[in-house]
Amino acid sequence: MRKKIVAGNWKMNMTLADGEALVEEIMNKSPELDDNKQVIFCTPFTHLMLIDDTITELSKPNFFLGAQNCNNNTSGAYTGEISISMLEEVGVDSVIIGHSERRQYYAESNEFLKSKVDALVENDLQVIFCCGESLEIREANTQNEFVAKQLEESLFHLDAAQMLNNVVIAYEPIWAIGTGKTATTAQAQEMHSYIRSLIAIKYNNEIAQEISILYGGSCNATNAKELFACEDVDGGLIGGAALKADTFLPIIEAMF
Ligand code: PGA
Repeated sequence: MRKKIVAGNWKMNMTLADGEALVEEIMNKSPELDDNKQVIFCTPFTHLMLIDDTITELSKPNFFLGAQNCNNNTSGAYTGEISISMLEEVGVDSVIIGHSERRQYYAESNEFLKSKVDALVENDLQVIFCCGESLEIREANTQNEFVAKQLEESLFHLDAAQMLNNVVIAYEPIWAIGTGKTATTAQAQEMHSYIRSLIAIKYNNEIAQEISILYGGSCNATNAKELFACEDVDGGLIGGAALKADTFLPIIEAMF
């Protein structure tokens, strides 16, 4: 049975003290997560060590630590960058790769993202691979081809075991991120089922059925239950609503 996952992407928000208090409140109030459910806190780099300590201290199963980016090289002269071994040292389990903000503001191409995917898989970390189309592409009704190309060029070179063990996909239509404009359940289900069909064609149906596909883009306390009830939606990658316990806890509860 594939896992349900709720990952909070804090982006460039939150003081250390607020972040620590947030994780404490969420973990204390959250229902117990069985092994088919995960909550991942994807914090800024500077918060990782502290939040790892907090998660460890509270010691509730199936809460994990995530980063929002990594470098594709092992080490060396890359001023301002953070390596995967550095992330592992502070307890990171998962890394978001290919978020549309990084594709857009830092010109991260499919080919470049492929090298990050490879480096993460080599180190056996979980990749939360983001894909999704702009409004322009949606309006031209070419979103399927666009998303297929993102997956083809950055992810589908992995072998079956790597896909199964290391990959979670997050479908995030860019027009829904931070805009308050959520994809309808029909739009989300349609794309998620399309992505699953691509995995089935590339690998096989068993693998397609095992990989969690999260929805992201203005997912919130009100719409999470309905979105997660879609057959092929296995949870969410949450931005704005991940910054407060009042809005994040109902999203965690929507996995049940
Ligand atoms: P949002 O962001 O929930 O604020 O729309 C989602 C994301 O960017 O991952």
